[in-house]
Amino acid sequence: MPRKIVVANWKMHGNLATNQQLLQTYIDRLDTLKNVEVVVCVPYPYLAQVQSLLQNTSIAWGAQNLSKDVVGAFTGEVSASMLKDFGATHVIIGHSERATAYCESDENIAAKFMQAKAHGLVPILCVGETLIEREAGVMEMVVAKQIDTIINLYGAQVFANTIISYEPIWAIGTGLAATPDQAQSMHEFIRHRIASHHQEAAASLKILYGGSVNPQNAVQLFNMQDIDGGLIGRCSLSAEEFEGICRAAS
Ligand code: G3P
Repeated sequence: MPRKIVVANWKMHGNLATNQQLLQTYIDRLDTLKNVEVVVCVPYPYLAQVQSLLQNTSIAWGAQNLSKDVVGAFTGEVSASMLKDFGATHVIIGHSERATAYCESDENIAAKFMQAKAHGLVPILCVGETLIEREAGVMEMVVAKQIDTIINLYGAQVFANTIISYEPIWAIGTGLAATPDQAQSMHEFIRHRIASHHQEAAASLKILYGGSVNPQNAVQLFNMQDIDGGLIGRCSLSAEEFEGICRAAS
């Protein structure tokens, strides 16, 4: 049984003191968990702190964005190589909260995806539809467009050994998670779409679900065939709830 992956997305939360407490609890409760890979993606300023605290544990760490550029006069941007300087292994890309707030195009997100791969970081590509798009029945068309942008620009093989997180926008932060069947249906659609271009890439791709995952719904969600784990927001800030989700995956 391949290991599930549970990724904490702290978003814009934390301070040095509370991070220390939360990360120590992560270590105490999660470091020895079997059959689950745990990753925590923190705001940039805390990468040194997580590197220092997690470097001798089984818990990996990463960031929530990166620049599509390698180096240069891009004020405020952070490059993939800078993330590597702090031992980051993963990076969230194209989260809907960023795509919306900063008008990130599918092409811009695709370039960031390739920057992560070029520097040996595991990209966590976020895809998902709005409530209006779901109610209109066009959710698969929306997700397909996001995935096809990368396939058309770089080829489906670039999805090998990467992560896609299906995050229905209407489920993020709302307490209203997709049902296991809704999530499985979209995960199956994603895997088949990539497999239709490149079987091996689809087989090594991990597809996470994100959007109001909690210790109660995680068990059913993670039991679905094409759900390889979760990308967790709010519940990652609670040691108890995040432990419950990780145990549901282990
Ligand atoms: O990236 C994961 C996040 O968008 C989900 O947030 O609070 O619904 O678990 P939340």
